[in-house]
Amino acid sequence: MIEKGKCPICGKTNQCAITLGEEPSTCWCMTTKVPKDLVSNIPDEFRNISCVCRECVKNYNKKVCVVGSLNVDHVLDVKNFPKPGETIKASKLSTFFGGKGGNQATACSKLGLTTSMLGSVGSDGHGNSYIEHFTNMGVNTNLIHQSNISGQAFIQVDQEGENNIVTIGGANYDLSIQWIDDHLEEILEHDVFLFSLEIPQDLVLYLMEILEKHHKLIILDPAPFANFHVKMLDYTDYITPNNSEYEQIKSYLKPSHHVIVKRGEKGSKYIHNEISINIPPYPVKAIDTVGAGDTFNAAFCFALVFNYTIEDALMTSNIAGAMATTKPGAQTGMPSLQELLRIRYK
Ligand code: RIB
Repeated sequence: MIEKGKCPICGKTNQCAITLGEEPSTCWCMTTKVPKDLVSNIPDEFRNISCVCRECVKNYNKKVCVVGSLNVDHVLDVKNFPKPGETIKASKLSTFFGGKGGNQATACSKLGLTTSMLGSVGSDGHGNSYIEHFTNMGVNTNLIHQSNISGQAFIQVDQEGENNIVTIGGANYDLSIQWIDDHLEEILEHDVFLFSLEIPQDLVLYLMEILEKHHKLIILDPAPFANFHVKMLDYTDYITPNNSEYEQIKSYLKPSHHVIVKRGEKGSKYIHNEISINIPPYPVKAIDTVGAGDTFNAAFCFALVFNYTIEDALMTSNIAGAMATTKPGAQTGMPSLQELLRIRYK
């Protein structure tokens, strides 16, 4: 339940609250203007109960840059995954926009964050449609490189919503250090960076090193683990493995690292020094788990932008990740800020 006097974005009681939905959208003390799109993202039923706080209005100006892959996902619905040597029939073939980076950028933008995508698509129809899709979703595409053939993912989703994925990187691996150097000024305009690893590892390390010197906030989703380099941990503020990645990464972790383990239907866990916090899942009937982890990452990024406590950040991210599993395709079920806030305060 949203409580009177508490900000619906950060949940804290803050001074200088803002009356929502009025034209022009101005703080009751007449000192702060609320961005109109932030106002329109707040569920109607919250108006006159609660106001966005001044701190959240300020944080709303932060810019997020997602650095990662862009794929076309070819998804086969199957009853059960085939065993080695077995041939089975799929009930449906669908095509979606995907790639861990593309999914994360879409989810960030749906949550109202000012989002840019740094990645590479093919100079083909798929690449052009992905850029158009981002434009429709409000994601800045200035940092997208185009060459070669777009990355593709071949995915099976079983009747429980579980998936397995095989990718072919294509243009994702054309992203170069030269591209970073050529766009560095614009890259450094961002405050928060969300990395995943379906792109060249040397580029990730190169960019992280620069960002660390500029004191940028860095979140790393170490997926796929095959592309992980232990040096990345030196630059990362938060690392967000899933269960199996955590098993592979844990021998490299130091107690001082901030680790968020995405545990799927078991929720999530925060580990740092002696602290270990388990946050239970948000229960849903999952029909397609593709992109759930990416949505979790985006919601975690949102929570950091708005200074959530770690418990609240994980709870919110669990909700967002779970919502993403309720519709087919990686991006279809991702919640908008309105949808997320409604569930968060239910
Ligand atoms: O995390 C899910 C994504 O992984 C899919 O969209 C697929 O493209 C692969 O990159």
